[in-house]
Amino acid sequence: MLLNKRIIIGICGGIASYKAVDLVSKLQQAGALVDVILTEHAEDFVRPLTFSTMSHRPVYSDLWEASGRAAETHIALAEEAELLAIVPATANTIAKLAYGIADNMLTAVALATKAPLVLAPAMYRDMYTHPATQANLALLRERGACIIEPEVGRLASGAVGPGRLPTTEVLQGAISKALGRNGDLAHRLVVVTAGGTHEPIDPVRYVGNRSSGKMGYAIATEARDRGADVILISGPVALEAPYGVELRTVETALQMRDAVQSAITGADVLVMSAAVADFRPDTPAAQKLKKGNGGGEAQGFDAHGGLTLHLVRNPDILGELAGIPGSSETSHGQITDKGERSKRLVRVGFAAETNDIVTNAQSKLQAKHLDLLVANDVGRRDSGFGVETNKVIIFHATGQIEDLPVMPKTGVAATIWDRIVPLLSTT
Ligand code: CTP
Repeated sequence: MLLNKRIIIGICGGIASYKAVDLVSKLQQAGALVDVILTEHAEDFVRPLTFSTMSHRPVYSDLWEASGRAAETHIALAEEAELLAIVPATANTIAKLAYGIADNMLTAVALATKAPLVLAPAMYRDMYTHPATQANLALLRERGACIIEPEVGRLASGAVGPGRLPTTEVLQGAISKALGRNGDLAHRLVVVTAGGTHEPIDPVRYVGNRSSGKMGYAIATEARDRGADVILISGPVALEAPYGVELRTVETALQMRDAVQSAITGADVLVMSAAVADFRPDTPAAQKLKKGNGGGEAQGFDAHGGLTLHLVRNPDILGELAGIPGSSETSHGQITDKGERSKRLVRVGFAAETNDIVTNAQSKLQAKHLDLLVANDVGRRDSGFGVETNKVIIFHATGQIEDLPVMPKTGVAATIWDRIVPLLSTT
């Protein structure tokens, strides 16, 4: 996504400017061609050499004015740029951008470029909340700029409030999203499920599985970077929500089923990468179960203090969508998207297997009427739960089978979207 992209990072004079060093470094590592422009006051905080060391490219500032080459340079930079991100953006520069003032290298480039603009305001709380700054930001947003909300927290002044520069991951996410806005998933709504579900035994214990959510989060992030609107329905995981996706958190399979049902209205694609629990404890105890005298037989304890859990079937979310009899549990009506949708929902399932992968995967693909089924061998060390890589086989409804090599989960996510895009309805 970032490989060979021409990105200008504008740095304003604020204490958060030192954090932009990390951003420039991460963008460079991801293969982007990063041109840094410093305002005069930014140089008081971080020296140009720091940025050029990270970007491996020249750094521009108002000193170029003195060399007499600023005019040609700012036009060339503006024309070549694929994105301009100002990190941090101070109230002063935001005001200049709103009014088209071009009195330094950065604001001149901002006025001359047609590239999308990303702004990360970071400043003292009361300058950020001032009606003038808010009005300027609203104006810039109206013109199409992406404004990354500052974080709320302790500011350099000691005050607490909005004004902190977000993390590098958030900044990089906003840049990737803006770069991908016209990608092959632009104007598409996609729903991705991720992580495992927790089925409560009592208020403190649950039946769960080892899904980390990494594969599903990578799929959601990749869809965002190709221009999609993304709803990510996630079970409990230890991951940060990717910037710019709508996160809906759930705990149980029943909650995930409800969340999927409401999210797929109007959606183009559903990718069910979540490891949904097939069973749940019949009746979770209202209070914490105690060993020793236990809760008695009614709570599942036997005469020897052993505990037996009675598990009942959860609905099969994908099975229900395909209208397969037996997918729903009796207390809920069956759902089906047949006849209720104006466009076809492309459905992609996952199968985590430890044995007989091909046979199991093929029968799931057919049984759940899927367009694609992505099977992985979770018995391998380089594949499946918790690790950064995956080794998958993609089964197509057409009968095609693709055995892919071990790849980072981000690469698997990109390949899955490459296969989904040709299946999207054109209506
Ligand atoms: N799935 C689902 N609802 C469930 C269980 C699974 O929608 N209650 C989805 C998963 O998200 C996945 C696909 O179905 O995309 C296959 O899940 P998997 O657990 O591998 O298969 P099952 O059909 O549950 O079969 P089994 O557990 O017996 O292997």
